[in-house]
Amino acid sequence: GRTVRVALLGCGTVGSEVTRMLIDDADELAARVGAPVELAGIAVRRPNKHPELPQHLLTADAGRLVESDVDVVVELIGGIEPVRGWLLTALRKGKSVVTGNKALLSEHAAELAEAADTSGADLYYEASVAGAIPLLRPLRESLAGDRITRVMGIVNGTTNFILSAMDSTGAGYAETLDEATRLGYAEADPTADVDGYDAASKAAILASLAFHSRVTASDVHREGIAGISASDIGAAKLLNRTVKLLAICERVTADDGTESVSARVHPVMIPRSHQLAGVNGAFNAVYVEAEAAGELMFYGQGAGGAPTASAVLGDLVAAARNRVAGGRGPRESAHAALPVRPMGQT
Ligand code: HSE
Repeated sequence: GRTVRVALLGCGTVGSEVTRMLIDDADELAARVGAPVELAGIAVRRPNKHPELPQHLLTADAGRLVESDVDVVVELIGGIEPVRGWLLTALRKGKSVVTGNKALLSEHAAELAEAADTSGADLYYEASVAGAIPLLRPLRESLAGDRITRVMGIVNGTTNFILSAMDSTGAGYAETLDEATRLGYAEADPTADVDGYDAASKAAILASLAFHSRVTASDVHREGIAGISASDIGAAKLLNRTVKLLAICERVTADDGTESVSARVHPVMIPRSHQLAGVNGAFNAVYVEAEAAGELMFYGQGAGGAPTASAVLGDLVAAARNRVAGGRGPRESAHAALPVRPMGQT
């Protein structure tokens, strides 16, 4: 069969693992896809800073790589601009997109999905929420015949690591954040994580898929963990509870029977006997409740190079298989069915 040509945008922690897997596992991937999957180029900001990568594949010109003869664009740069323009160009030209970009998806999913629908390309973003955990595909495909009522869980590893550490050591927030940064669990600028922006983006993506709606990050009520003190954790302990930062997305029915979607992120004191209380460190866990399926729990590594690369490769194999078969894969409905409840009303 024909070769599936892949452009990789960004080569940090996740991108370098994706590159390694594409090169080392090339034969196996080709067998699974039914055609060779070839890395056609890697766009990085400073090519001369990457002696470890195949030099002939490197370029600083992401826009040009996207427009070149490639079938799938894998984006792992993050942020909204200029990535949004590149991905729209790719989709409009019928190239499939695989991305882990939660900030972009939580603001511009509608625009990207429309571009994909128009050209018939795939748009997959399993890596944007909960790292290695297969979660978006089950919501989009396995549960497509059911009616989801709730999606709730721990979707940020950094804050979960900090809260777990505060619970086990009794130390304060600032001290624990410093330790998390020193150990590499928190980023140099931890704002997006500790103030709940990262979790709010993920909640918007989850709520949109689960409820066939269009929820953006600004629709999500958001509270972070910076205000949690050692004495809050101590008080929770006295009540046999622990504090977790939860993302909670619900189908809400008003008295008159009209339905809407509510999404929020905030710290919650949960009983120590609850399964989510046992999710420690950088792990993520998400409960999904659906009318026919009942309760489901998804658990695993929510961040990190190899775990997140697993989700990216899964999407890439799916997109490549669709290319080889000459079609496109399952997708969410392009029509928003449920309205989003104004923030703060729960
Ligand atoms: N900063 C994120 C986290 C990375 O801590 O969960 C994974 O999205």
